Amino acid sequence: MRRALALPGRTVLVTGASSGIGEATARAVAARGATVLLVARRADELDRVRAEIEAAGGRASSYPCDLTDLDAIDTLVAQVLAEHGAVDVLVNNAGRSIRRSLALSYDRFHDVERSMAINFFGPVRLTLGLLPAMREQRLGHVVNVLTWGVQMKAPKFSAYIASKTALDSWSRVAARETWGDNVTFTNMRFSLVRTAMSAPTEAYAGRGASPEQAAARVVRAIERRPPNVNTVAGNIGELLNLVAPRLADRLFHRFDRMFPDSKAARGR
Ligand SMILES: NC(=O)c1ccc[n+]([C@@H]2O[C@H](COP(=O)([O-])OP(=O)(O)OC[C@H]3O[C@@H](n4cnc5c(N)ncnc54)[C@H](OP(=O)(O)O)[C@@H]3O)[C@@H](O)[C@H]2O)c1
Repeated sequence: MRRALALPGRTVLVTGASSGIGEATARAVAARGATVLLVARRADELDRVRAEIEAAGGRASSYPCDLTDLDAIDTLVAQVLAEHGAVDVLVNNAGRSIRRSLALSYDRFHDVERSMAINFFGPVRLTLGLLPAMREQRLGHVVNVLTWGVQMKAPKFSAYIASKTALDSWSRVAARETWGDNVTFTNMRFSLVRTAMSAPTEAYAGRGASPEQAAARVVRAIERRPPNVNTVAGNIGELLNLVAPRLADRLFHRFDRMFPDSKAARGR
């Protein structure tokens, strides 16, 4: 087991820091004495979060960036390394969820492309940019904000779960190569969190953890550096998929029929 990572004095880059889980995580790590680098597209929202962190006595800087633009990520990496040296902790949180059945997706290959762009290619490009300096200083931790769907394989989320699973697998393999340099990864398989992302799905109304509760789990994952953070339900789903895959198919098919596509997914 690796030594715990203490947050005071560390540099933590959080993507998707303009709202939801990322915003709450940025506030939480800043409150623990880390310097937080805020990344997302909406510069005005990043400035709001930065100003609020500074007003509370913390340290933060904003770096507006579209993480689906690979050249923009390279520019971001160069700027961050020039201004801060190595980043100690990277939280790959920015993402996009798409809940849409296959029946509504036959002419929507772009759902797959969009999911991969923000949930896989972007975070991998950013991680590759920041890893050499982490390995050089022999300290680093990467937290990926994923979903329990990678264990469950929940219907209507094929594009989303595939893209999150790609980052999950990539990071597990990378972790085995960087272990000797004291650079570690945590895959967080979150269940439902009440944010702007989950709001359009009527079936989720009022359910799930608060962004602050989710952020507290991210902070714990930074400090303790476990390989995975799972839910009990996710573990049960994963086990069922392993030992009784056809039973799992039947049960999930039933769920699929109970919870139809949202109005947003139908384009209304
Ligand atoms: N909510 C849930 O139930 C739930 C459950 C499991 C996992 N997650 C995961 O949690 C993460 C955070 O989501 P959230 O629930 O907190 O939703 P959210 O409030 O909508 O946050 C999404 C964040 O991602 C950023 N983002 C999206 N596209 C981007 C792009 N192209 N470039 C840069 N930043 C981009 C957004 O910022 P801008 O719009 O300013 O760019 C925003 O800050 C996601 O990866 C999501 O998949 C959420």
